[in-house]
Amino acid sequence: MPAPTPAKIAIIGSGAVGSTIAFSLIMNRLPAEIILSDIDTRRAGGEALDLSDATFVSSSSVRVAKNQQEVGQCDIIVITAGAKQKPGESRANLIDRNYHIMQSVIKGMQPINPNAKIIIVANPVEILCHIAQKLSGLPRNQVFGSGTFLDSARLRLSVAEMLNVHESSVHCYVVGEHGDNQLVAWSAGRVGGAPLLSFDQFKNADLAHIAHEVARKAYEIIDRKGATYYGIGACVASLAESVLYHSRRVFPISCYNPESECYVSVPAVLGNDGVQHAVQLPLDDKEKAAFDEAVKSIKSITEKYN
Ligand code: 2OP
Repeated sequence: MPAPTPAKIAIIGSGAVGSTIAFSLIMNRLPAEIILSDIDTRRAGGEALDLSDATFVSSSSVRVAKNQQEVGQCDIIVITAGAKQKPGESRANLIDRNYHIMQSVIKGMQPINPNAKIIIVANPVEILCHIAQKLSGLPRNQVFGSGTFLDSARLRLSVAEMLNVHESSVHCYVVGEHGDNQLVAWSAGRVGGAPLLSFDQFKNADLAHIAHEVARKAYEIIDRKGATYYGIGACVASLAESVLYHSRRVFPISCYNPESECYVSVPAVLGNDGVQHAVQLPLDDKEKAAFDEAVKSIKSITEKYN
């Protein structure tokens, strides 16, 4: 399906994450008018000027939002604004600070385009999806988050290196929470149609160690350079592309999962309505127990924000 030309994509928050998402959209050559919004308008203006030097490769354009109401009328609204993790800090710890930021962002951009898709990137992403959906009043399928897409990309890279195949041929997901309650659905992993765990390299592999390294990667990057942004930039550009082109690609994202009755990261089909539907992964008993733990933890927090 041809993309609406040009789609309006707002990015709220012009820090390293927001501006790298904008850069990724440009480099992916999306036919989009990228609109940056930040309480620091001078910073947003600087990023827009810098990014505009890259638009010659693309059919995207970039500028600063005229006001918050304009942001609310965009086709896709990416929310990155919020406190970020300090070295060693968990994502869950950000909730109190980021709840208030989310409240003011959503309130400021009312009335919201009823067809808008809101992509939450700020953390803790599953909880903020729940809050953004409630506050915006948009249907659940139109509000989703980058979730464990980035963790899954990290996992696929590790697996691809072990098996000496391209990452795109590794079908294995991190699910649950984009946070400390994440788990790898090893039993459902496939490469070339064969079960991942049937490969020789996995016969004696320390799966817990691999999963731990994947979950800790963000901590390591933050410890060394203060923030992560390239991976999330590439992830969000892929999500936006699947919405604009109605590609119906499957991504592990934070979406409302009717089975769990909450936002949780599971593979889901993404098209121009947003989340078309979640895919129910067959998990083994141990994975199911870990997934249930993640759901329990997410629900214990979201129930305070109903
Ligand atoms: C990441 O996983 C910090 O959530 C961010 O890179």
